[in-house]
Amino acid sequence: MDVWSLSKQGDHPEDAAQDGNRFLAANGYMGLRGVPEEAGADRFPAVTLAGVYDRFQDRWREPVNAPNGLFVQFFLDGLPLSLGKAEPLMHSAQLHYQNGVYHRRTEFDAVLIESERFASLAQCHLLADRYQMTFRRDGELTLYTGISTEIWDINGPHLFDFRHEQGEALLTEAVTGEKHITVAVAQAVRPDFEAQEAFETTAAGSFRVLRRAVRKGETLTVALFAAVYTSLDHPAPGEQAARLCLRMKELGFAACLAAHEDAWADVWRRSLVELTGDEEAARALHASQYHLNSIAPRHSDAMSIPARGLSGQTYKGAIFWDSEIFFFPMFAYTQPEIARVLLKYRIDTLPGARQKAASYGYRGAFYAWESQEGGQEGCTDFNVVDVFTHRPVRTYFRDKQIHISGDIAYALRSYYEITGDRSLLEEGGAKVILECARFYISRASARLDGDTVDLNDVIGPDEYHERVANSAFTNAMALHCLKSALMLRELFADRPEWFARLLKDLNYEQDWALIPPLIARIRRPRLRDGVIEQFDGYFELEDCSLDDVRARLRDPREYWGGDHGVAGPTQIIKQADVIALLALFPGDFTDREVADNWQYYEPRTEHGSSLSACMYALTACRIGKTDEAWELFLRTANIDVSGSSKQWAGEIYIGGTHPAANGGAWMIAALGFAGLRIRDGRPELHPSLPRQISRLRFPIVWRGERLTVEVTREGGRFLRG
Ligand code: BGC
Repeated sequence: MDVWSLSKQGDHPEDAAQDGNRFLAANGYMGLRGVPEEAGADRFPAVTLAGVYDRFQDRWREPVNAPNGLFVQFFLDGLPLSLGKAEPLMHSAQLHYQNGVYHRRTEFDAVLIESERFASLAQCHLLADRYQMTFRRDGELTLYTGISTEIWDINGPHLFDFRHEQGEALLTEAVTGEKHITVAVAQAVRPDFEAQEAFETTAAGSFRVLRRAVRKGETLTVALFAAVYTSLDHPAPGEQAARLCLRMKELGFAACLAAHEDAWADVWRRSLVELTGDEEAARALHASQYHLNSIAPRHSDAMSIPARGLSGQTYKGAIFWDSEIFFFPMFAYTQPEIARVLLKYRIDTLPGARQKAASYGYRGAFYAWESQEGGQEGCTDFNVVDVFTHRPVRTYFRDKQIHISGDIAYALRSYYEITGDRSLLEEGGAKVILECARFYISRASARLDGDTVDLNDVIGPDEYHERVANSAFTNAMALHCLKSALMLRELFADRPEWFARLLKDLNYEQDWALIPPLIARIRRPRLRDGVIEQFDGYFELEDCSLDDVRARLRDPREYWGGDHGVAGPTQIIKQADVIALLALFPGDFTDREVADNWQYYEPRTEHGSSLSACMYALTACRIGKTDEAWELFLRTANIDVSGSSKQWAGEIYIGGTHPAANGGAWMIAALGFAGLRIRDGRPELHPSLPRQISRLRFPIVWRGERLTVEVTREGGRFLRG
């Protein structure tokens, strides 16, 4: 098995949606879906832009897809030689995880097509493709290449007022409907052959047409350079794009590829987890690390990663708690500058979080559940469509999933603990923690003179049970946030004036005094035989099996939560909830407690979210359930290899790549199998290797120092460098 690539034989248009995700080439600025160059809208081609959103009419706001500047289609003697238009003798696609290069090879009677393309990690505005044709008979070639505006939109269209310029560079500009953001795509080509050149503009885009006679046995290659800029990047995006693609054309494909490969080599040097003993697992881990690394916002100083990465518009391109809890750890331990960029996004979007809190009558910061640019809430009141009535179902994710603020505070504190770098807290992070704590103070339901304080009417990670009281996870996150606020004073004990000024600027005096009593009184969960109750009254719900609940479904796409969902009246949960709590606070629970809860909750968990299995795997490692951990690891790490994940929530398409599972795979390997943990301010290893693994080796940066973690069956150790 090639542990560094994913291949697929044959042309399967019915798999186009999933394959577009699995074969994604991305660079943090944009994601190029894994579809062939000639793909029309039926194969869901897209160049999804990070951080650029638009709303069409009253539909969901979602990220904007740029026109596709790597379009190629050709004809021999007028006959189309493209997938979907002619039957291939053979077709294969391959994605190389080591360098993020996508290869395709297609054989028709008359021609063999081979191409390799990438989204440059060295120059984030660049897409490049080397497209090659070897002819098996003489004929007249007509090749169209250019900028296709036939792009996939879920809730579009988003681009209007198209303007095309044609010359050495083709340039297409359009503006978004809502905020009038200009999106510019330029394309230049470098054929290794002479041809007659003409231009065409059609409803499908702007094209260069190359015509010439070809002979049997002849191979022609054309290199394509597409550049994408928006007016968020530069005031003259069109000029920038045209200039860049012409410069890259001069440089040539090989040089562009070399720079891109160097950038990837550096990423792997800093983050690769080498897993020895099982090839399928090694490949799955490479895939996971490839996908997560490929969508990291290296080009920005404040940006986060959407829940479906840059694989399209699903989940509205929004930023969820996935960022802080699932993506953040790999970056914090391997490329802390990226972890910083993710958190800087939250610091910058504090005004949005304050506004959201105020809109519900609270103080402090209530972060968006589905955060778009500026912290704008992308989550709608009706986030699911009922399969029976086709009516939107009222969901309360945006209103009640208040753990989001605590999750952000949790990551801000972890960033400091892992990197030892206080500057992020100084540059707004401390303010965020204080404002999140203030939100919980104002959200707590009882007066502080009572014995306990409840957090009522919330949703924990398990979204199938909405509007519950005292979610164990949520209360623990709120508690941690309040404690982190107090910790700040100790942390800045050497800068008392700075800290006092911060409190003063935030007008925080009264709230500060409320933190200790709230910490003392916030409701701790009920325990039954050592099992933590997920929320008040959970144990009283019907205790049936997952199969029982599944048998009650009348449609496979039916939503399990919401008002009439089959899971609601039962103890069946969507995803790790109490178990996520145990995984995130390992020091607060004994092995016995972890084991009791794991035993109870695992059979009651649907794992209906890709965020679930990794939390179960992490805790399984802790209690020596290595066989279970192994199975959950494979499920997590293989998710974007197999493409076999949940594709629908009610009538809403939710397919795409799964960065949370990708980050989860790193977490299982590093924090679970190797047992990397911080105790008393020092990293420790508590290995729990499944029998399939003989060795794990990976780099981390611990408080600025580069270390290599090595774990074998004999134990684990840190090596310098
Ligand atoms: C999960 C959430 C998650 C979101 C985005 C939902 O299905 O329940 O926990 O944040 O997907 O990944």
